[in-house]
Amino acid sequence: MTDLAPLKRAAAAKALEYVVDGMKLGLGSGSTAELFVELLAPRIRGGQKLLCVPTSERTATLARKLGITLANLDDLAPLDLTVDGADEADRNLDLIKGGGGMLLREKIVAASSKKMIVIADESKLVPRLGKFPLPVEVVEFGHKAIAARLKTAIDGLGYKDVRIALRLKDGAPFKTDSGNLIYDCHMGAIQNADKLGKAVHAVPGVVEHGLFVGIATTLIIASPGDVEVIEK
Ligand code: A5P
Repeated sequence: MTDLAPLKRAAAAKALEYVVDGMKLGLGSGSTAELFVELLAPRIRGGQKLLCVPTSERTATLARKLGITLANLDDLAPLDLTVDGADEADRNLDLIKGGGGMLLREKIVAASSKKMIVIADESKLVPRLGKFPLPVEVVEFGHKAIAARLKTAIDGLGYKDVRIALRLKDGAPFKTDSGNLIYDCHMGAIQNADKLGKAVHAVPGVVEHGLFVGIATTLIIASPGDVEVIEK
């Protein structure tokens, strides 16, 4: 199996070129975004004034360990730029995120940023979203009933063999940073991400879903020997 770490690092290094002293930055979550945070830290230690907002507790912990001072989104918004990874991205810059369960804060921070750069290795670039199951964050109250309505909503758009699974961690329901649950929705190739997102959002109890449509402004994809930058 290819070691993807050097590719993730190459994408993260490219994104660093977009960071300018004085910026207000959103720090993404996941292994690729964490590499970006590691590359960013020396800039801050070197004296650049970069104000950072993390998208997860995990990223916050890493950032603090690296000496990055963090701020609240409410004090800084709008941010200049958020740099984050993705589970899937297409050439239209639509994304599926939330594989790590941080989609809610990731979307709030990205939506509160003037620009969002997505960094990924080539395995994340797909012709059509949907091979990766769509993570949907729901409140705990009545979550099985919410999941049943979620399935009905997705079935209603014509998707076949829709399967919805509660995400588990160590045998117990996985809890997000906001104390919610995640249902992973398998429905195969997504025909219309915007329409699907709206249908999922319309189910009471759904907090957020992992479809990022029209949010990313730049996609950086690293493959062996090449780093491709796709702009919106
Ligand atoms: C976290 O919830 C996700 O949205 C991540 O951004 C996504 O899973 C990408 O993570 P990796 O960079 O670890 O693949």
